[in-house]
Amino acid sequence: MIELEVPPHYAGREQAYVKHHFLREYLERLAFKIASAFDELVYVDGYSGPWKSGDENYGDTSFGIALERLTAARETWRDMPSRRRDVRMTAHLVEEKAGPFRELEGIGARFPEVSVKPHRGDFLKLAPSIASAIPQRAFTFSLIDPKGFTLDLDALKPLLARPRSEVVFNFMYEFANRFVEHPDLADTFDRLLPGVDWRPRFASLTADPASGPDERKAFLLSCFKEAVKAIGGFKYVADIEIRHPGKNRTYYFLVYATREPHGLEVFRDCQVKALAAQAQIAGQKSQAKRETNGQTSLFGTEWESAGINHRQFLDEQRNAARLLLLEIAATEPGIRWGEVWPRMLADYAIRKTDAGAIAGTLRKEAMVSFPGWGGKKRIPSDDYRLQLT
Ligand SMILES: C[S@@+](CC[C@H](N)C(=O)[O-])C[C@H]1O[C@@H](n2cnc3c(N)ncnc32)[C@H](O)[C@@H]1O
Repeated sequence: MIELEVPPHYAGREQAYVKHHFLREYLERLAFKIASAFDELVYVDGYSGPWKSGDENYGDTSFGIALERLTAARETWRDMPSRRRDVRMTAHLVEEKAGPFRELEGIGARFPEVSVKPHRGDFLKLAPSIASAIPQRAFTFSLIDPKGFTLDLDALKPLLARPRSEVVFNFMYEFANRFVEHPDLADTFDRLLPGVDWRPRFASLTADPASGPDERKAFLLSCFKEAVKAIGGFKYVADIEIRHPGKNRTYYFLVYATREPHGLEVFRDCQVKALAAQAQIAGQKSQAKRETNGQTSLFGTEWESAGINHRQFLDEQRNAARLLLLEIAATEPGIRWGEVWPRMLADYAIRKTDAGAIAGTLRKEAMVSFPGWGGKKRIPSDDYRLQLT
């Protein structure tokens, strides 16, 4: 487990630290990789803030983190001795409120390597014009992090459906779950979930006495993921659950959509690190609570039990991914491994190396085979074909 120190200005909003930790890791790898193939990388922050920032350099805001990562990637490529490249970096930052927008207006001067374009207004109205200002050949990464769940996905289509693009949403599950039964808000859910038959599905879910909070959570999340996938024409949509700090209760989901298997690979690598951060925060919180209450733990700290939960979750995900691999082998024999592992990563929180190791183990157990598997290979190559034995 990695050691983390949550900066003091995140106190009371540690869930934002997990989100920002993920974003920093992800954008670092994305910016570097994308800059090798594209001449321009565009970052769009739809609900940028600054919001509850306690760091004078905006290092605890999504746009501050993004601008810092874009700057670093640009400098790295420009200083590369063998393959020097000058990659244009652009950031569109949208904020509705006057106060935070005034701060945004001054931000460009701090990040001269990035062409910063602040916009004041409602992101849903501005998204189409931002989309049309982005050059065809640029790669776009959008972060859509509203405070609530009143999104209109159709309005975002011009941005999301760009062929060279991906997106991370903050899906405010806790609020969506609280209001899904509210009769006045059905239209709001229609706009959040366009093209998804959520009403009859929700009605049959609530009529089923066997379904509980977990089924409801899975239902809402999958409706949102279906809607995002369809609107953007994305190939893969994956999620990360973010819990209330120190509690075992879902706060929101980060929902990631991409067309690229490599994007999923990076997303899951970063998720595993973000999960470690979350487990550590959970442990620190419960330990602090015990100390305040004057209790001492019999078996060391609660930190350890948070670590165990986190490892247990990852084990469960690997087991579920193993079953998916077997199912794909049974139903689609001869499929390329390069088509299989992204599907495992899209559905479960495993890394590409985990998917390869699962395939290697199943092969050793003679459950599956990959004709032509080289003697020294431990994990399959993308062009190997999967068979059930
Ligand atoms: C949750 S905060 C964003 C936090 C930021 N992404 C971060 O991680 O540091 C949402 C921000 O969106 C702004 N906002 C609310 N409604 C908006 C809208 N319709 N269009 C653009 N910005 C909006 C709010 O004023 C607030 O600053």
